[in-house]
Amino acid sequence: MNKDLIGFGSFFHKTNLDELPDIPTRFLKDYQLFYAGRYAMKYVFDMLIKNYDIGHIWLPQYYCPFVKEWLEKGFPNLKYYDIDPFDPEAQVDYSQFSTNDVVLVNNYWGLKRNDIPTGKRPLIGEDHSHGWLSPGCLQSEADFCIASLRKTVPLPLGGIAWKPKKSKAALSLPQLSTSAENTGMEHAWDLVDKAMALKASCTSVEEKTQFLDLYGNGENVLRTTQELKTLRPNHEKVLTEALFKDYNSHKIKNWEYVTTKINENSSFKVLPKGEATPFGLLLVFKEYEDLKLMKQHLISKSIYPAELWPQNNIRYEYKFLLNIHIDFRYEARDMDYFAATINQWTQ
Ligand SMILES: Cc1ncc(COP(=O)(O)O)c(C=O)c1O
Repeated sequence: MNKDLIGFGSFFHKTNLDELPDIPTRFLKDYQLFYAGRYAMKYVFDMLIKNYDIGHIWLPQYYCPFVKEWLEKGFPNLKYYDIDPFDPEAQVDYSQFSTNDVVLVNNYWGLKRNDIPTGKRPLIGEDHSHGWLSPGCLQSEADFCIASLRKTVPLPLGGIAWKPKKSKAALSLPQLSTSAENTGMEHAWDLVDKAMALKASCTSVEEKTQFLDLYGNGENVLRTTQELKTLRPNHEKVLTEALFKDYNSHKIKNWEYVTTKINENSSFKVLPKGEATPFGLLLVFKEYEDLKLMKQHLISKSIYPAELWPQNNIRYEYKFLLNIHIDFRYEARDMDYFAATINQWTQ
């Protein structure tokens, strides 16, 4: 991987997964794999609607705008509730929901644990897309959980729905019957797979444009496809083998190293990690203008942060987030570069 040419961040390049150690885990009771997190979510909601007289489905207001838009097409009874995404201790106020509602709780940045209330309560789902294998994910007592795996697992696509071992839900998670054909999703997988391979071997600006186009085309297939399909056997095999790898210890080492080098400033803070491994180096801003300037500065130095997420307006002091990827692709030298670049902006 030529970092000088492709820069730092954005989607994964093709990786040899054997290089990542396996970890033992036992938190899934039933599970079903999908090509993306949104299908897992739709699958769980559909299943609950089929089995219960559901009132509203609640999502947190601060959430991925593309996913909100995609879900709004399929679920007219969606509503949004308020929670501070940057306070890992903030708990959902379940008293605002009716007992026949479904509430999706987001494990923001892998740092949250969701306390399940006792007594009468709505059905509770959790989204661990930014905290796959985080403490909140491993110890979940929710009725059902989902995650977009492709944010952590270096494969073209991937999502999962599961019923946690500690769930007290009466329903088990049914298996989706095997789809006869699935040309749309196979095509999306192939496009992203090619993009990842090209990113790994890229030697020219032309190839860089090409892999970005391929990746964008793969994403577009997801945005326009609502149908739930099972994975092709070869895709299921590689995704299953990649589920329980140690994605966190490298990240935490990078986090601990880089955070000692970032200077204090008044426009943003590095979100502390608590007991968990954060999804990345999380810079939270009070003003959108500052985020925009920092993002431009980072991009001008070939660091491509993720903005999580634009267009959410919340009432808290810190409102906007940039995530800088610090996963297994990166090492101490890269952390030095990230910290120096961030400090350049704050000077
Ligand atoms: C928190 C969260 N949950 C779910 C999803 C949906 O995942 P996918 O893009 O794999 O459908 C996303 C989005 O990208 C997300 O950020």
